[in-house]
Amino acid sequence: MNRLNLGILISGRGSNMESLLNASVDESYPAKPRLVIANREGAPGLATAKRFGVETALIPHKQYNDRRAFEEALHETLTRHEIDIIALAGFMRVLTPWFVGKWEGRMVNIHPSLLPAYPGLDTHARAIDAGDSEAGCTVHWVTEGVDEGAIIGQSRVPVKAGDTPDSLAARVLIAEHELYPRALADACRMITAPSAR
Ligand code: GRF
Repeated sequence: MNRLNLGILISGRGSNMESLLNASVDESYPAKPRLVIANREGAPGLATAKRFGVETALIPHKQYNDRRAFEEALHETLTRHEIDIIALAGFMRVLTPWFVGKWEGRMVNIHPSLLPAYPGLDTHARAIDAGDSEAGCTVHWVTEGVDEGAIIGQSRVPVKAGDTPDSLAARVLIAEHELYPRALADACRMITAPSAR
């Protein structure tokens, strides 16, 4: 089977990246990780990726004068590695319309809320403050609007009495690790067989 070349963008811990790397150890998984890029020096996920034998690159956004120069470096590196699909995994940098335009339809993100509820930051605190009984996570296509692209998959977890943002985040994270590999596989199938969309 033809597997898509996967590039993963991270900023930190990389536990979602790790769930994708674990899933793609299986040769029948529709994506093959080729490259993990971090925009922050010392991102712990880089060491994890190396442990899996995946090539890594550090492209620190702070070393570039502006967003466009940073994104050009990202784009060049991804293109050089013949990446077919990008998974954002805890990548804490908003991408400009220029970069999104280059990768639209080939870039997915995981977000820790049940979109369209709570795009942006502090999702768990916002769900608790609102008195929600359910929280969760969403994998979606990346479009210009932050956390606005079409939804590929969602997973729900209960909000429990006495939950803090941290306890809820931990419960949602378990759901993220299960959802992301499954939803990324669906996204790959949509790319290779567009009628599945
Ligand atoms: C995850 O909750 C992800 O949804 C959010 O940031 C967190 C990153 O965690 N965008 P990790 O780096 O994947 O461990």
